[in-house]
Amino acid sequence: MAASGTEHRRQRRLLQPAFHRERIAAAVPAILRTVQEASTSWEPGQTVAVDRVMNELSLTMLAKTLFSANTAAPAADLIRSSLPVLAGGLIVRTLMPEWWTRLPLPGNRRFDRAVHTMSTAIDEAVRSYRADGQDHGDVLSMLLAIRDTDGRPLTDQQIRDQIIGFGLAGVETTGATLAWIFHELGRHPDIEQRVHHEIDTVLGDRPPTHADVPALEYTGRVITETLRLHALWIVMRRTLNPVQLGGTTLPAGAEVLYSAYALHRDPRWFPDPERFDPDRWLPERAHTIPKGAYIPFSAGAHKCIGDALAFTEMTITVAAICRHWRLRPVPGVRVREVARGDVHPNRLPMTTEPRSR
Ligand code: HEM
Repeated sequence: MAASGTEHRRQRRLLQPAFHRERIAAAVPAILRTVQEASTSWEPGQTVAVDRVMNELSLTMLAKTLFSANTAAPAADLIRSSLPVLAGGLIVRTLMPEWWTRLPLPGNRRFDRAVHTMSTAIDEAVRSYRADGQDHGDVLSMLLAIRDTDGRPLTDQQIRDQIIGFGLAGVETTGATLAWIFHELGRHPDIEQRVHHEIDTVLGDRPPTHADVPALEYTGRVITETLRLHALWIVMRRTLNPVQLGGTTLPAGAEVLYSAYALHRDPRWFPDPERFDPDRWLPERAHTIPKGAYIPFSAGAHKCIGDALAFTEMTITVAAICRHWRLRPVPGVRVREVARGDVHPNRLPMTTEPRSR
């Protein structure tokens, strides 16, 4: 969603219903199936590249949330294969001069092909949805149903831009956070045990549903704490008007970088900030944390539109995996943080261990 000011607010208002509670609830069965399909193929004692698995899960979950109809499955597959090329290419593009992007280099050609493949795939999905005329309860159906105050639908280009924007904003962020959750559980067996206890108590012998998400309170605190310690490294904003910030006046058009990663380590609000402590989010402790000190999804007009979807995806994934598996750290492997926009692990091999209950 690259628009700003009034146009951004207008688009945001139109898009918001795609992320309402009932749309997210409708996506949960597909989210659960995705996690189950991946984790039932694991063998006990296998080493799994958790960073890659979580990114792949996040990609598939989002593709299914965007297009759930069987007729759109080929489009979803093409988007799944092109999106990582597009995301990687965009990072390079923010660093390189504009003329560089026009050189006939292999990387630029791959990027252009990925843009073309994604656009064609989205157009194909749109055509099939228009042809069957049904509401599939997913994001694409919602985008097709949008009408502005003059009764106009979104143009094909706007639909393409939104879908690509959701993919770029929602895949690697969720994938990296999921990987960090399992990393933190792996190195804090006491916390992992409490998560297992809660999941067993709330779910018994059945898989998680959307209705279970609020009851999985401790699991929620683990996710909240992971988002604190492993937040986005840098987010950029541009001022539209002159603005006063901490005693400095910024002119209109100034580019401002801020780091949630650094903010979330302020000892005034987060005592012993490097400690992974999910219970700092117990209501009786969390009320001392001021608004604005914790912003994993940013704040204001550009706050993440997918925050509730991401939280649901992560809760369902953790619950579905932890019902059956412990993921153990591989001894001697040092996991380092790599900062792009998100901060992800350089690698995260973990060993699967079936849970005995
Ligand atoms: C743990 C997962 C996620 C994190 C940490 C995260 C974080 C963020 C942050 C910090 C921003 C603000 C960026 C800025 O101001 O430049 C943002 C924006 C956005 N996010 Fe997320 N996000 C996550 C998942 C998702 C998901 C699953 C979607 C699904 C569609 C999504 C869609 C978006 C969109 C469309 C925006 C732009 C909003 C706007 O400009 O109005 N995000 N996200």
